[in-house]
Amino acid sequence: SSRPEADSLVGAIDQGTSSTRFLVFNAKTAELISQHQVEINQSFPKEGWVEEDPKEILQSVCECMERTSEKLIQLNINISNVKAIGVTNQRETTVVWDKETGEPLYNAIGESPPYTPPLDNCGLLMSVVWLDLRTQSTVEKLIKKTPGKNKNHLKDKTGLPISTYFSALKLRWLMDNIESVAEAVQTNRAVFGTVDSWLIWCLTGGKNGGVHCTDVTNASRTMLFNIHTMQWDPELFGLMVACLGDQSAALVGQMCFKDGQAKNTYGTGCFMLKNTGVKPVMSDHGLLTTVAYKLGRDQPVYYALEGSVAIAGAVVRWLKENLGIIKSSSDIEKLAATAGTSYGCYFVPAFSGLYAPYWEPSARGIICGLTQFTNSSHLAFAALEAVCFQTREVLDAMNQDSGVPLSQLQVDGGMTANKLLMQLQADILCIPVVRPSMSETTALGAAMAAGAAEGVCVWTINPDGMTSVTSEKYQPKINPDGESSDQFFNHISQCKLAKNLGISSS
Ligand code: G3P
Repeated sequence: SSRPEADSLVGAIDQGTSSTRFLVFNAKTAELISQHQVEINQSFPKEGWVEEDPKEILQSVCECMERTSEKLIQLNINISNVKAIGVTNQRETTVVWDKETGEPLYNAIGESPPYTPPLDNCGLLMSVVWLDLRTQSTVEKLIKKTPGKNKNHLKDKTGLPISTYFSALKLRWLMDNIESVAEAVQTNRAVFGTVDSWLIWCLTGGKNGGVHCTDVTNASRTMLFNIHTMQWDPELFGLMVACLGDQSAALVGQMCFKDGQAKNTYGTGCFMLKNTGVKPVMSDHGLLTTVAYKLGRDQPVYYALEGSVAIAGAVVRWLKENLGIIKSSSDIEKLAATAGTSYGCYFVPAFSGLYAPYWEPSARGIICGLTQFTNSSHLAFAALEAVCFQTREVLDAMNQDSGVPLSQLQVDGGMTANKLLMQLQADILCIPVVRPSMSETTALGAAMAAGAAEGVCVWTINPDGMTSVTSEKYQPKINPDGESSDQFFNHISQCKLAKNLGISSS
């Protein structure tokens, strides 16, 4: 028998760059009922290459769903109360698989998890992750071919600059460099998708009738999609009734439904999206124009301006895995707090070039301002500051584009558990930073979209009715014309330095 309050639950598969989660929420109150999380391995086969194994991604989703179901059963909740499931995912990551043979063409890394999904349904290759830089020379060649050598040549149609970030060039690379992909393309067996497509295809039967679809938010990140005409319609089916790229899902989960509302999500990277309403706004300051959400077939498309920062949580992972100065990611807060300052040390983590507002793939990271006195705690502090400075650059661009400065910033994502980071962010932005107490807003957004499609959630229709959302506010402690601005401008010059040092061809 199920508890009455467990009626009408909504689930979300949240497949991020660093981990996968499955979460179940109460459809009426948005209370998080149960969840499970599994880390995802990344491989770096060459300098600038970042890959993940689609088979591992799929297995992690199945494992998370299994474990969450077990936890629900332990709570005496009937899993049939889950009325709808949404999918939200890392965007741009590109997967190509073979729809007919079912033979994996790229070996999985690591051991099989306890639960084995029906992998015989899907022959797969590898996924090239959004951070990957292997298409840098193709990007440069393409830009040279455009009139006026303009990286924004496709921006009117796609909202995006020509960049290594988006899926189209990753797909081109796979077709040109992986023989089995070229062969599968020629024989009409190749299927391309972002991670949402891959998962939905596998989970709906794979080669035995799996549904090949995506949604407008993910499609808008391929650089193959016209964001004005919206030619792709998602096919919906079964329990899985909604799909949103993770940053769009976070915008929905933060209830940013009004023109001018914005959120910043601190994950592997850091992504600020500002709802611009039903008309796309083109940026003059290095931001992307992207599809924010479309909540239902007959609902309008909403657009967002986006400031994408490639490296946020990934810098903490780097300090842990490459330098070994912390044992777990959460240790960074304590280490940085022991210094309480970077002591003049600046860290520009341009590991994958610089995204917004520079769009410079050849930039590389730099740590400068070191003295005999600098130690690991200063470095940890500088790494946290780097995340905040990058956010400030994006916020400045957003304010310049809209002409109306943002009065506070809503934040979410794993890194927002770090109170030191949150205070630093408020100080560096010189506006309050507001963090909801339930920080799983990405998953909540996907669950809300699924629940709305099934008619079990009313939040999207009346977000003001969501009185149960509590939050924590960090007020800026230093003067806008004081120390924070100086630090910021130092950072800008370091960004430029990093960018210039990284340009080998000029
Ligand atoms: O565009 C990439 C983004 O969707 C990845 O998000 O949460 O893994 O940093 P995240």
